[in-house]
Parts: sequence; C-alpha cells; structure tokens
Amino acid sequence: MQTKGHSRNFIYTDWILIETQFDPDQLHSKETVFTIGNGYLGTKGSFEEGYPHALPATFIHGVYDDVPVVYTELANCPDWLPLVVIVNGDRFRLDQGEILRYDRQLDLRYGLLSRYLRWRSPSGNTIDIHFERFASFADQHVLAQRCHLTPVDFDGLIEVQGGINGYPENQGFNHWEGLDQGKTDQGIWLQRRTRHSRIEIGMGATMKILGTEASLQVSTAPGYPTLTTTYLAKSKQTVTVEKIVTLFTSRDTETPVSAATEKLAHLPDYATLLKANEQAWDEAWQQSDILIEGDSTAAFAVRYNLFQLLIAGSRHDDKVSIPAKTLSGFGYRGHIFWDTEIFMLPFFLFTQPAIARNLLSYRWHTLPGARRKAAHYGYKGAMFAWESADTGDEVTPRWGLNSDFYGEDVRIWCRDREIHINADIPYAAWNYWQTTGDDEWMQQCGAEIILDAAIFWGSRVEFNSERQQYEIRGVIGVDEYHEFVHNNAFTNRMAQWHLQRAIAVYDWLAHKFPERATELEQKLKLTPQERSHWQDIIAKILFLHDPLTEQIEQFEGFFQLEDINLADYQGRDHSMQAILSIEKTNKCQVIKQPDILMLLYLMRESADFPYNQKALQANWDYYAPRTDITYGSSLGPAVHAILASDLGKSAEAYEVFMQALMVDLEDNRGNTSDGIHGATAGGVWQAVIFGFGGIQLTENGPVANFHLPDGWTRLKFKLHWRGKWHDFDLRKGQVTSLRSEFKIQNSKFKINDPYK
Ligand code: BGC
Repeated sequence: MQTKGHSRNFIYTDWILIETQFDPDQLHSKETVFTIGNGYLGTKGSFEEGYPHALPATFIHGVYDDVPVVYTELANCPDWLPLVVIVNGDRFRLDQGEILRYDRQLDLRYGLLSRYLRWRSPSGNTIDIHFERFASFADQHVLAQRCHLTPVDFDGLIEVQGGINGYPENQGFNHWEGLDQGKTDQGIWLQRRTRHSRIEIGMGATMKILGTEASLQVSTAPGYPTLTTTYLAKSKQTVTVEKIVTLFTSRDTETPVSAATEKLAHLPDYATLLKANEQAWDEAWQQSDILIEGDSTAAFAVRYNLFQLLIAGSRHDDKVSIPAKTLSGFGYRGHIFWDTEIFMLPFFLFTQPAIARNLLSYRWHTLPGARRKAAHYGYKGAMFAWESADTGDEVTPRWGLNSDFYGEDVRIWCRDREIHINADIPYAAWNYWQTTGDDEWMQQCGAEIILDAAIFWGSRVEFNSERQQYEIRGVIGVDEYHEFVHNNAFTNRMAQWHLQRAIAVYDWLAHKFPERATELEQKLKLTPQERSHWQDIIAKILFLHDPLTEQIEQFEGFFQLEDINLADYQGRDHSMQAILSIEKTNKCQVIKQPDILMLLYLMRESADFPYNQKALQANWDYYAPRTDITYGSSLGPAVHAILASDLGKSAEAYEVFMQALMVDLEDNRGNTSDGIHGATAGGVWQAVIFGFGGIQLTENGPVANFHLPDGWTRLKFKLHWRGKWHDFDLRKGQVTSLRSEFKIQNSKFKINDPYK
C-alpha cells in the first residue's frame, strides 16, 4: 500500500522524499538531507552543476588529515559530481534563467537521488533535464550518474562536461596535493594525496552518450580532468549521458590509481550497475526495514533515519567507525563519540550484526591510542578518547574558539572529564557478545577492550576512607551542563556494571580460552590483586540512591543547586546554557540531556538495578521537567520517548519521538547543515523497537510488550538474536502477557537478565 504524506518542506511516499521547490536559503541543510552513500563513502546532495556558496562534500571512512586546533578531520575528497550542461552557449544553473519545474527525489529503497527540471535558459531555450546518481551499494568503489536531456522547443548545440574536481575544501582548507592525472581508453584519472596523513586517492571516470552521435574530448586542466561532449540536439529528442566514477585509496590498496582505472575498464553499463545496486539494497532492507501503518509521516521518516545509518555503517572495513555526523557533514570534523556505541550500534546489532562487529572492532584496533591517553593522564589500562578518529588518540579540541574579536574562547573539558565513555564501549561490546553469541570476536577483541578499560577504572577511582567508599571525582556526566562534578551516578554505576562484566569475561576466558587469558594477563598486567580490587570497587562504589523514594541524585550536591523552572522560559529558541551562560548553568538544576534517565534506560535489563515502575516514575518526575529536551542535546528526545512510553505517557512519548524523528527532515535544531544527527537516527530505531515495540530480551528470545502510539495500526520489523531471526508483526488490539503484568502488579518488571 502506498501512502503519501507531507511536512513543512517535503512530500513523501512510503520510500521517496520529494522536494518540489528550490529554496537557496536552505541550500546547506538540503545538501545534508539529500546525502547518499554506501558504507564506504558519503556524498552530500549538492547539485551537479554547482551553485554559489554550495559546499559539495564526499567523505570516505578513515580518510583523515591533520588540521590546526581540532587535530584531525575527515578530509573532503575530490568531488565526483561535476556534470555541467551548456545549452546553446548558456550554462545551466538554477540562479539564472527560469526554473519551470523542479523536483528532487531521494529514493531510500535504492539510495537513488534524482532531479527533474524544466529550465528556460536566459536566451529562451527550454529544456528538460533529469539527473540521477547513486553510490553503488553492491560495489563500494563505484559511483554512477546519469542525465537525460530533452530540448522542449529548440534545436541547437548542447555541451556536457563531466569532471572530477580535485580542489575540494574543508571550510576553506584544502587537504590535497596533486600527484598526477591522465587519460586512458576509458576516460580520465586523477591521483591526489592528503598533505599530512599521506593517504593517496586514485579516481577514474568515464562518460557515455546515448541517443546521438557524439565524440568525447579530454581536458586535463591541472587537478580537474574533464570529459566533454558536444552534439546537435533536436527538439523533443532525448539524449542520455552516463558518467561512471571509480575510486580507491591507499587504505584499500597500494596502487589506488591502477585499481580505479582497472575497475573502470571492466565495468558493465549503467543499467547493470543500477540493477546490482538495487539488489544489494533489497538485501539490506530485507533485514533492517521497519514497516509502520497508520502514520505516513512516521512510516517514511523512520525509514529515512534507518537509511542514514545504513549508508554510514562500514560493511567491509573494521578499522573505521561512524562519526557523530555520519559521513554527511563537516560538523564535529568526522570525530567518533559514544554516540556510535550507545545510540547507533543497537540498530546494527539486531539487524546487521556484521556491521556491529566492524564498529566495535574499530575500538579494538584503536586501543593503542586509548592506552596512550591513559598513560598521559597518569592512569593505567585503556582510557578511550571522548572524540576519536583514526588512531584512537584524544582529538576533542581543547578550546572552542570564538569568532567574535573580543569574545572569550571556551575551554572544552570533555576530553579530560567525560569518562563514562570508558564504560559505554565495554557495555556495547558485552551486548554484542550476548546478542550474537560471537565467542570468537569476544576472545580476540571484546575481552581485551573490556579488561583494559576496566584496568583504567581501577586506577581512576579514589577510596574515601571516611566514607569507606570508592568515589569518582571531577567528571562530566552525560549531562554536559555540569562540568566538574563528583560521583555522577551514571559514571559510577556504569563503571560498576563494567567491572562486574570484566570479572565475568575474565572467568569465561580463563575457562574457555585459557591461552588467550594468559596472553592478556601478561599483556595487560592483569593480576589476581587487580581483580580483587575490582571486586572491592563493585562492592563499595558510591551510588546516590535513596531506597525509600527510589530517587537517584545525578551527582553529589545536585539537589542543593538553584532550581530553575523551565516553564518560565517558554517560547525561547535557544538552549538554557546559551540563555543563562555556562557558569550559571553549572550552578542550576537544569540538565542538557537525560543522565539518570539514560542510566535507567541502559540498565533496564539488569536484575541488580532499581528499574521498577516506582524508580522510573520518581526519577522521571524529578528529572524530565528539568531537562532542556528541545534545545539541549539532540540525543535526548529519543530516550525520553522510550521512558515516557514505558510509563504509559503515550502522547508525551509521541511528541518527543517526533522531535527526534524529524530532526534533520525538518531541521528542527537549525544545524542539519553540519550533517545528519547519527545518534538521533539510532535513537529513533531504539524508540520504535524498545519504546513503542516494547521489546524485552528474555532467555527465550526477544518479546514484544508493545504499546503503539495513537494512529499506528501496525508495526512490523525483525530482530536477529543469538543466530536466529525473530519476526514481529504487531497490530493494535493485541495484548501481551508481559504488558499486563507490568500494569496490574505495578511492581518490578519481571525481567530475566540474559546477561548473567
Ligand atoms: C552531546 C554528547 C554527544 C555529542 C556528539 C553533545 O552535544 O552532549 O552527548 O556525544 O554532542 O553528538
């Protein structure tokens, strides 16, 4: 059944996003929204013909280069998009002549971006132009473009130039030096290298003209090789130009140029490439699709978010991970945060486990960087970077620079203090193991991550002899509005949970893979004393939980801070930190994103944690009204949606869910131009599956304790769990036993901890 919906900016069907008007003011955000990719690279939706101030960008996983202040960034790669059409001497461009029809479409099902235009040139010639492009999902080194040209009311000369622009910029900074370029029987090639990291790229391009006689000329303008064709166009006759680009980097092969030109020489035609691409996408959606009926906005937008994850997850490289802004923008410079493990990973874990494995293996490969960070700060073991790139070294900028001449620069403390990531990554590694049963990966990679990061906690905690308890002082919790706090409940409890699992993993390893256990004991200096130290920490770490009220204090002294009534600030369009100042926010009970509530969510399957209706209600009542949910972090709304849904607050759950769901389609935070909100996309999947779908993991497999939002009549998806696919086709009106137990007894969820 095909449904149609629309939002402020778009029309969409079940799978297709349609933009019917071009608005130059939204040029950059739309460049992000129309990003395509294939898990190897991402290319923003910039126009083939260019546009003033456009920021075309292609990012390839792992292609980082040095840059001042922020250390390293994903280098914008040579641009494969240029396809310039000249109509009787007038260059086709949207800012000149007249646009009589404009229709841009992104087909999520096959990752196909197209544009239908009718344009009247300044000299009065009208032409239909239909562009199409895709980054092959079947062969990640292949990019394809096609352009159908049909004169409406003239005969005349048409020239088409298809090139590769070797001068891409990262906001004014060009990372590439030219090495060489040339031509072959098939077309042109370009060889460039990043200035510092010395990653070489080799690209080849070919062009084919169908529907007329035309020859190709090669222009070898330095750094911008181009293929040009000119033909005599006839009114109402369509000519098609196909341009295929191949690319490799020295991360893939020692000889990127010959790999690119060889591939080009053996490629089938566009139609065959398109078919293979469609087949690869069919397979991906087979596993990852979510079908929603009864709500056309959600039906499309959920798929849109899943599409963003699918084009960002590396399928063939386990030394890279997904940046916070995926491969779709300059924001956060392509750095990788906890966003990947905690927000995005579950989608892959349950629908594309091989990609989840790659993402986590990246953390294993970058352990040396995490060890250097620990040593630098005077700790033992592995201390994962808050922002990580190619080596795992810390790349969070120390300062946020002010562009105002007289403004103050801001010290960014996350690199030093936001250490909960050291438990978040092991949390994800453990869940991967439990969900897939991949013992091979656990003994080879996961155990080392979990154990070495646990050693860090052993050296980071402090024993308070007065209290006879362990403390973790001077941290930033999940809520970044408070920048120097002691005993953040999230950090302490996650560290404790992590140490519990570290002991379990060690015991398992010693039993099942004794040689690997001995190897790691020696490599990590993991002694019996260390392990009994962990036991001691587990038993005595401070956790500010009142068993009577079930309230958890976010950190020591939080309840004493000045209280703020967020309702007094209604109508604002800035974050509370922007309104109150950094200093003042630090002193108030206003939080950027769920911290205690995030903890409750992550611990929901843990038998040894107070996740019960009373705890959830008490902490929701306290923290939800104090959370800057709309203007704080974009990571917040999906988490609130899940918990509100668990609490039976359907309307509230749906409202915050929509904030997460539409974050980029409606640019509701005003920063979509920086790139897709990857964590939000992952949060959307979790909100649908664990929130509305109510999935709980029991010993016998996942069980749906669902509560669909008003209007949703059907929710269908599948989950891969312990080697088997589990199909869910949930329809309004069905009741499950677990859900009624939750409602009637009004007591602790009966959850078997499958992880114990
Ligand atoms: C959030 C972090 C997040 C980062 C990158 C920050 O604004 O507070 O939790 O990791 O953005 O998305």
